[in-house]
Amino acid sequence: MLFPETKYLDFKFPQPQYLGAKYIHRGWIAQFIPENANTILDAFSGSQSIAYMFKQLGKRVITNDFLNFNNVIGKALIENPGYTLDNEDIETLYSPNNSPEEFNLISSLFSGLFFIDEDADFADSFRSNVHRLKNPYKQALALTIMCRSMTRKVTMGHFAHTQALVYASDPNRVKRNRSLARPLKDLFSELLPQYNAAVFNNNKENISFNENVLDLLPKVDGVDLVYFDPPYCNSHADYQSFYHLLETYVEYWKDKDFINGTKRYNPKRYSGFDKNSEVILNFQDMFEKSRHIPTWILSYNDRSYPDIDTILNLIKPFRDVNIEYKTYYAGRGGKGSVAGSNEILLICNPK
Ligand SMILES: C[S@@+](CC[C@H](N)C(=O)[O-])C[C@H]1O[C@@H](n2cnc3c(N)ncnc32)[C@H](O)[C@@H]1O
Repeated sequence: MLFPETKYLDFKFPQPQYLGAKYIHRGWIAQFIPENANTILDAFSGSQSIAYMFKQLGKRVITNDFLNFNNVIGKALIENPGYTLDNEDIETLYSPNNSPEEFNLISSLFSGLFFIDEDADFADSFRSNVHRLKNPYKQALALTIMCRSMTRKVTMGHFAHTQALVYASDPNRVKRNRSLARPLKDLFSELLPQYNAAVFNNNKENISFNENVLDLLPKVDGVDLVYFDPPYCNSHADYQSFYHLLETYVEYWKDKDFINGTKRYNPKRYSGFDKNSEVILNFQDMFEKSRHIPTWILSYNDRSYPDIDTILNLIKPFRDVNIEYKTYYAGRGGKGSVAGSNEILLICNPK
């Protein structure tokens, strides 16, 4: 990158807590983004931490995730040209539940499971007021911060276990992680300034989608580079089991069953990248559908399925590939971040 755009680099993406987030690798990934790539698609954007880095580089960003709570972050921090939440908005969001018969999903499903009654009621009343904010970017920002607050309240930051309240009443755990015992409203209020400060306009028409990547690819044009960060099929690939509560909160499902101890919604959305039996065919389809995008960058980890040789064989009919390794030694890199494991980027250019 010869003449990098630097004026947006002072904005700070609020630190995510999301399995497989590449937040800590964003500087390393940025090195491989060519200056002349003007429009970039983040096809599996998750927490949006890499889409945000693209926005900071001054790119036009198209971002996408098949889960809507991630798309909502994309609306709030990538597509949003500058709307933040002011005191009047907060007063609206913190006002009493304006329709308790309609807005009681979180207390009816998750009270006594992930939250104490007061927090579940607050989540519902807040949700009942979101649509009273007239601007869609403000709505998205409100939901984004609330989702982040909810993950801070539960042990391990996900919802695939049923120990949240047990841990929240264990003094030793609370000593290590005070958020577990703090009211949801306090966590929201604390996060708000960070999120408001992260909103900026890079003067590009950025857009966030909520589609399966295989449906989206044929529809996007004018993309110079696509970044693929698919789930690691071997571990933690089922994002809907880990984050079902956030999707339920954003969607406020009326037409799902809620199953198992964690009350995950059912049926799930179809990914195609979370089961070993399907993933190879879907990678093949994804590469086929990306022919019209000149440069592809794929994040990969050497503990993933399928193995690197299989992936390379799938890409080679379409692109020449350079492999870049980043070895990390501390176990802090999100999914698969085991000491000595490699974070890999496959840089794929036209033949
Ligand atoms: C490894 S994570 C991406 C992490 C992201 N780069 C970040 O920094 O936070 C993979 C993402 O792919 C999404 N996903 C899974 N299947 C998908 C599909 N078929 N289409 C689009 N997104 C999908 C998951 O919801 C998850 O957020």
